[in-house]
Amino acid sequence: MTKFQSVEEVMADMEKYQKLQKNFSQKSSLPKKPGADNECPKCNGKELVFYKVYRDENDEFGTDWAKPCECSARKEWQRRFKSSMVPDEFVDARLDNFNMDTNIQNLMHEMTVDYLQEFSVYTAEDGRQEKKFSNYNFGLIAEVGESSMRELNPVDRAKMKKLKNNFGIGKTHLQMALAKKLVKDGFNVLVVSDVTFIDDLMQARKADDNNESYFKLLDSALKADVLIWDDIGKVSNTEPRERMYYTIINERYKRNKPIVFNSNEDRSSLAEKIGYAGASRLFGECGRYLLEASGKDMRFKEVASNV
Ligand SMILES: Nc1ncnc2c1ncn2[C@@H]1O[C@H](COP(=O)(O)OP(=O)(O)OP(=O)(O)O)[C@@H](O)[C@H]1O
Ligand SMILES: [Mg+2]
Ligand SMILES: [Zn+2]
Repeated sequence: MTKFQSVEEVMADMEKYQKLQKNFSQKSSLPKKPGADNECPKCNGKELVFYKVYRDENDEFGTDWAKPCECSARKEWQRRFKSSMVPDEFVDARLDNFNMDTNIQNLMHEMTVDYLQEFSVYTAEDGRQEKKFSNYNFGLIAEVGESSMRELNPVDRAKMKKLKNNFGIGKTHLQMALAKKLVKDGFNVLVVSDVTFIDDLMQARKADDNNESYFKLLDSALKADVLIWDDIGKVSNTEPRERMYYTIINERYKRNKPIVFNSNEDRSSLAEKIGYAGASRLFGECGRYLLEASGKDMRFKEVASNV
């Protein structure tokens, strides 16, 4: 017996998942104060170990020196991970637990792995680390977008959904796996969910604080080495939103910093959602890293295997 009796039930279920997803992003944990939990007994959370150096045997008091505690690198990684805002739901998403039973899953995986290779960290002789970024954006989008599907009558929509489904195909899974790998390698990554991010920016813009909170938020999106924009184009378009999209896309372009994004919209419907100027820059900077993907919804896998 299948789980769904009608197209309407499928649509209602999908909407439920979309709502759930929004909550996941809001749930993602904010950075905690360093050393708040699991304090290291060696340094009591200071991340520095103090020791004395004596000049000679007559040096009674010695001089205090400090060196980074061995917990420091691990904590730095944890901080970067927490501040990257990877949603809790995807902490287990990895490249090596992504099934590749179909061609499109293979392609999506391959593209993510290739893109990852555009990044590297080089340690110079003096110990300084130099990071090399990709100059390209990386997008996983739909062949037939959500908005385009909605315009169809229910019968055609159901047919089209079967042929060109874009939900649950692993876009976020792969890009969160990418985020985690980059964080581990030392990059500052910021994951934002379209709905909450744009709303937060719009709210901050209205706040009566000389735009302080707005610029702070904007700055975090511009400063990150890699910005991962989950579900871009989810919110409906308005002019102020369009300007916001353009500002972020264009500013990151000017700073030569990449945007990794995924969307349930296709090229043209995404352009309508975020504005043509922003979309043209977003896509234009993808090079070969733009994939229009359709496939099976992995959220239904348990149902499918019971049929
Ligand atoms: N190839 C795969 N192997 C293993 N798990 C997968 C695969 N594809 C998707 N999943 C899992 O299925 C669920 C849905 O995937 P995900 O959220 O990445 O899809 P999506 O394409 O981002 O969908 P949406 O557009 O609805 O956001 C996740 O729990 C994800 O880990
Ligand atoms: Mg997703
Ligand atoms: Zn320590």
